Amino acid sequence: MRNIFLLFFAYLPLVMCSQKPDNLKDKFANYFLIGATINQEDYQIIDKDNKVLKIVSEDFNSVTPENSMKWMHSHPEYSKFTFSNAQKITDFAKENDMFLLGHTLVWHNQVPEYVSDIKDKIKFDLHIKNHIFQLVTRFKGKVDMWDVVNEALNDDGTLRETVFLDMMGESYIEKAFQYANDFDPNVELAYNDYNLYKPNKRAGAIRIINSLKEKGIRIDAVGIQAHWDLHFPSIKEIEQTIIDLAETGVDVMITELDITVIPNPYELAGIAREEFKKFEGDKKWDPYQAGIPDNVQKKLTKRYRDIFELFVKHHDKISRVTFWGTTDKYTWRNQNPINNRADYPLLFDREYNKKPAYYELLDIDLSEKN
Ligand code: G3I
Repeated sequence: MRNIFLLFFAYLPLVMCSQKPDNLKDKFANYFLIGATINQEDYQIIDKDNKVLKIVSEDFNSVTPENSMKWMHSHPEYSKFTFSNAQKITDFAKENDMFLLGHTLVWHNQVPEYVSDIKDKIKFDLHIKNHIFQLVTRFKGKVDMWDVVNEALNDDGTLRETVFLDMMGESYIEKAFQYANDFDPNVELAYNDYNLYKPNKRAGAIRIINSLKEKGIRIDAVGIQAHWDLHFPSIKEIEQTIIDLAETGVDVMITELDITVIPNPYELAGIAREEFKKFEGDKKWDPYQAGIPDNVQKKLTKRYRDIFELFVKHHDKISRVTFWGTTDKYTWRNQNPINNRADYPLLFDREYNKKPAYYELLDIDLSEKN
């Protein structure tokens, strides 16, 4: 009996080594961080849905607050800062020893109206500086990386018309990075954008990165948002995007991954946000209220495998892969731009179960890729 015991313990390390990881963070531990978002307020999570927090702590080692560090939530009035939700997410991330991404310091969206009312350019610049100061110092030592500037580019690679460009000129980007660096020289600094698979937009991002570097202003990483669908962008386009961005010398990250399976209302592009209301409940735009069909589930599963095999191939360039959400129940896709649709872009379903795509990722063969 004693011998059997000894044998068991002698072989235990081997048995343990050959065990397959049963969660995402262990599966990709030698490759990149695996992240998810945590939201707040009426349709999620902190204080309200422990099941989601359980998923995040079991499967992920990086977290991004989906909304609560954004301007409208963290700095709702000229001289008022509200950090309670952001602080809860920060505490959760630190209790679980997770990488925490600060999202985001300068973005044209979700900015309260009072910001556009600041008409004096010097005051405006000081206000931006103070905004960055308050967030960066408040979360110093807790946030590991800031998305300093988010979505500054149009699809043609030119700078987007925003209140920041209007009031501060093109230098608003370098000032934002400089301020963030001044207030916390140890936190990593990133530029983040979508549609970087489009060559002109990608060239714009590369110009931003190179121009910061030429001026001696620190930038550590670039985020590819990755709000993709079952077909676009192609694996080839994604690969080229990773390669081109990595050539700038900064870390590449996949920051907001989700794969929509329902029609993208691009035909309606240009119509006002309120007008999308009339399409609510229209089956053409919301075909899978009753559940995701098997053939679509299969396509989603394969798409996730293809994408992750590519990430693994380029893991030397990629430091983090973050999903934009956790379960299909709470994805922003259900509400944007048409409310109350049923989309299925993530790895956990509405009942918090792991989807076939989740198991497909655990099944990827990493043996030759180490
Ligand atoms: O805060 C109000 C709340 O008071 C109100 O009761 C509720 C009514 O619907 O709305 C709440 O605001 C919502 C907000 O999320 C919550 O913070 C907005 O309607 C809603 O539009 C907003 O959507 C967020 C969106 O950014 C805003 O542009 C999504 O949750 C969030 O996932 C999304 O995230 C962005 C990234 O930050 C940047 N990249 C694109 C990505 C997807 O759009």
